[in-house]
Parts: sequence; structure tokens; C-alpha cells
Amino acid sequence: MPPPKIRVFATPAIVAEAAAQHIAESAESALRDTGSFAIALSGGNTPRMLYQLLADEPYVSRIDWSKVEIFFGDERCVPPEDRESNFHRASETLLDLVPIPPANIHRIRGEIDPQAAAIEYGQLLKQRFADGGLDFALLGMGEDGHTASLFPGSAALAETNHRCVANFVDNLNAWRITMTVPFLNRSKQILMLVTGSAKAERVQQALEPTDAAEPLPVQLINPSSGHLTWFLDAAAACME
Ligand code: 6PG
Repeated sequence: MPPPKIRVFATPAIVAEAAAQHIAESAESALRDTGSFAIALSGGNTPRMLYQLLADEPYVSRIDWSKVEIFFGDERCVPPEDRESNFHRASETLLDLVPIPPANIHRIRGEIDPQAAAIEYGQLLKQRFADGGLDFALLGMGEDGHTASLFPGSAALAETNHRCVANFVDNLNAWRITMTVPFLNRSKQILMLVTGSAKAERVQQALEPTDAAEPLPVQLINPSSGHLTWFLDAAAACME
């Protein structure tokens, strides 16, 4: 597999602008090729500026939102109106602000039993993608090297079959629901968005080739035929 493409930008705001441009270009390409654009959004704080950019000009007009399908790389086991919900965060900064048909937004039902929610979402992904994958997966990385809700040492890292699983995260003492490594690696484009000096050491570790028995979860993200790109700010790239 080709090494990931790594682009470093001076500030988080410039990272967000570059990411919006990358997503818009990927959307336009997918819409030309297939007439639809299936993107999985990530949670956390990093993508907030990106979502706000996509919900504003020029992107709100540039992207044909009627043909965009929204998925979620992971979700917390909370109701959709909970401030911790990735669906809630994406809705208030993006989804409520663009002309996307509600039927095109596929949220993970964090409010129901985690196993049931994971099975339900996995069946939706199977029905929509069969043995294929997303056009675009937007991912972040935690300071521990997790991505989506694939946390170090958690059972979901070993999943080789399902597209989505419930994953108990010991250090959060909480269930999460997450897309799995095999499914994410079927994406055509994966964009890893990481900013801030607190993640610099982990970024350096993540981007070094490893044959460790237990690589970082983020090191398992290697699309089989798609493209993986990291967008970093100078702080996360230890270039401050
Ligand atoms: C989540 C995210 C998670 C996130 C990282 C980074 O549900 O929290 O999907 O994988 O991308 O934890 O979070 P920050 O962007 O807040 O640093």
C-alpha cells in the first residue's frame, strides 16, 4: 500500500479550509462518476471549523447536497439530542444548515442498546455498500492514537467481518459504536484531520512504520485501494 500523503498547514483554520476544499473536490468527482457522494463524518472537536466552513459559502452552494449521503464513523451511546452525540454536534454545525434531504442522513442510534444499534447500522452499511465502501471517511485521532471509536486494547480492533460493532472502552467506562477497520479501509478517500501540539508525539509515532504486536489503532487505517491523507497543523506536525 502506498504511504499516506501528509500535508502540513500553519494553523487549524487553514487545515479546516484545506479539508473543505478536499471534500468539495472529492464530492464533485464522486458526483460526476456515480451521481452520489457517501461520506462518514467524525466526532470530536477538530472537525468543528471544517463543518462550519462546509455550511457556509462557497461550499454550501458548490456541493450538490441533495446527492450527498451522510454516515458516521462512530457514535457515543447517548440520545441524538445529547451534546455528546456526534450526530448532534454535526447537526448543529453542518447538517441543519445545508439543503440535504433528511433521508440522506444515516445516524447511528446511540439511544438504543449498543449491540442492537451496531447490528442495525452494520445491516444498513451492508445494504448500501455491499462489499464496497464509502467515497470519503473523515477521521480524527485522539492523544492515545484512537480513531473513530477504535481505542487501544479494545475488542473492536480485532473485528474482521462486521462493518460496525459495539465497543466497550475501558478507560471511558462506556460503550461506543464504531465502524470497523476492514470497513473503513474500503473507503475511496480517507482524510485524517489532526491538530494541536498535544497530539504531536502520537502523530510522529503513528506515521513511523511499525511491526509492533499492537500498533496504534490509527496505524491500522490503510485503505486497500483508496487514498489516505493526513492534514496536520504545524503544532501537530512538531514543526512549531
Ligand atoms: C469521537 C471521534 C473521535 C475523535 C477523536 C479526536 O467520537 O470522539 O470520532 O475518534 O475523532 O477522539 O477528537 P478531537 O477532535 O476532539 O481531538
